[in-house]
Amino acid sequence: MFTRSGFGTIGLSMFGLGTLTRVARELRQDLTAAQERDPAAREIGRAEILLTYGGVQALLMHRVAHAIHDIGIPLLPHALANPSRVVTGIEIHPAAEIGDALFIDHGAGVVIGETAEIGDNVTLYQGVTLGGTGFARGKRHPTVEDEVVIGSGAKLLGPITVGRRSKVGANSVVIHDVPPNSTVVGNPGHPVRVEGKKPAGPDADWAHLPDPVADAIRALAGRVAELEKLLAEATGKKPEATAEVRPLRNVRGSDPASG
Ligand SMILES: CC(C)(COP(=O)(O)OP(=O)(O)OC[C@H]1O[C@@H](n2cnc3c(N)ncnc32)[C@H](O)[C@@H]1OP(=O)(O)O)[C@@H](O)C(=O)NCCC(=O)NCCS
Repeated sequence: MFTRSGFGTIGLSMFGLGTLTRVARELRQDLTAAQERDPAAREIGRAEILLTYGGVQALLMHRVAHAIHDIGIPLLPHALANPSRVVTGIEIHPAAEIGDALFIDHGAGVVIGETAEIGDNVTLYQGVTLGGTGFARGKRHPTVEDEVVIGSGAKLLGPITVGRRSKVGANSVVIHDVPPNSTVVGNPGHPVRVEGKKPAGPDADWAHLPDPVADAIRALAGRVAELEKLLAEATGKKPEATAEVRPLRNVRGSDPASG
């Protein structure tokens, strides 16, 4: 284990042939991912993809920056990540853990935070954010398991886990875990497929959970209204209009439990 102050020659010597071989292998897999997952890339060569695909370039730069970050060399990882962001519009924190064969299609506006973890064979489209919530340190960005596809503009916030082979719809805002083999859409993200099937019961409706505080206030308001009615009958004094009690959350979204 190297401290940042003690990186020096030891750290640099660690960045040797093994690391270069690993980065080269990762690059080959990233190029294959682009060829396999972008229909427009099937007819073009790997050199052309490397020269023209911002997603592949940003990933290559990240793989180098991450390797340098791993051996404890300060400053340089960010010094590589920043020009990569300027050129490609893709911001990846050097500490983010990214598995094999990630494909970032188009790419502009993608943000991958410091404690994000991405498995193998994941696909991200432009505008995806794997972001944190709040200012606390520690794990605060999403974990995305193998073979997940995240649509353009989707925001995944907090230390949530998106299970293997799940899909996140374009422009979704996801703040809860997503089980494997599911499809989540909307804001707030709600499941429209779980294990390939439409969710059948209210237990799967994570977006519209009960609001016990609103329920309790609503029950009290009902009792006050009843008392006011009795008082009005006894005194002839008309009660003021009863205030409507509504949950703080927006419950008007589509119902993922509906068939
Ligand atoms: C989420 C997604 C993966 C779903 O694909 P799918 O598995 O084929 O699912 P379906 O198209 O059958 O859609 C399932 C339901 O979700 C709804 N839905 C799909 N995508 C949605 C989205 N992005 N936002 C809101 N609702 C969406 C559909 O209307 C459908 O609703 P219904 O069951 O009430 O009819 C896909 O719609 C998507 O958003 N892909 C991202 C693609 C992308 O970003 N491309 C960028 C290319 S540059």
